[in-house]
Amino acid sequence: MKRRNLNLKSLFFNNHSQKSKDVHDRFSGMFATFMLIFVSTFFGAKAQTSIELPAPDKKGGMPLMQALNQRHSSRNFSSKEVTLQQLSNLCWAAWGFNRPEDGKRTAPSSMNKQEIELYVVLKDGAYYYNAREHRLDLIKKGDLRSYCGRQAFVAKAPVNFIYVANMKKAGVNKPEDITPEILMTSYANTGFIAQNTYLASVSEGLVCVVRGSIDKTALEKALELSPLHKVILGHTIGYEK
Ligand SMILES: Cc1cc2nc3c(=O)[nH]c(=O)nc-3n(C[C@H](O)[C@H](O)[C@H](O)COP(=O)(O)O)c2cc1C
Repeated sequence: MKRRNLNLKSLFFNNHSQKSKDVHDRFSGMFATFMLIFVSTFFGAKAQTSIELPAPDKKGGMPLMQALNQRHSSRNFSSKEVTLQQLSNLCWAAWGFNRPEDGKRTAPSSMNKQEIELYVVLKDGAYYYNAREHRLDLIKKGDLRSYCGRQAFVAKAPVNFIYVANMKKAGVNKPEDITPEILMTSYANTGFIAQNTYLASVSEGLVCVVRGSIDKTALEKALELSPLHKVILGHTIGYEK
């Protein structure tokens, strides 16, 4: 890259070394502006490709029995955004590593295959929850919330979790080898994660509803998932209206 820039500069200046200082200065200014735009665009775009989540608050939250007492589904969402700390707590509670040294998580999974992946669909884009780094990695820019479910509130709520089974992690290598039994195991694994999300939402003063009513083929296409990634359930989260 450096070499290319130097060559670019010489293309601008060396062949025109006889021209006046004014022209030289003008080209120098143009070159500097070009480099500034190039560098800021490149690094700016890179900075937006992931959202670093703050550390989850593992000591706070509502007492478990109170959270269970208040757990319920709601379909009445305001468009108020959740905070980054709330998002961090929700992701970690749902499917974060609680024993990173053993590579184990807040929810159980059959034979510890951990094939469920958590996608977080926000107003500005769809992200993969990178649990190891506790970070949201952008997979697609733009508002994809309307793909997340057939009910109208889904497109207006600030957060949609999408639980996706990565069949490769479940030991399946070809789409035609995905059986109802394998999918059933992924549904069971997702159930534990979804209940974590319910309890964490209550604890954060938020409401939510887990959902199966999704055009899964359309959503998998919108998220550009591979044929070995299967959408299992969605989970809409936000403030009650
Ligand atoms: C597997 C599953 C799929 C669900 N799908 C939907 C759905 O597509 N849309 C919806 O509004 N609620 C859905 N729900 C939420 C249930 O309707 C809700 O849990 C039930 O009415 C009991 O209410 P509660 O959660 O407040 O106890 C689903 C729940 C489960 C467990």
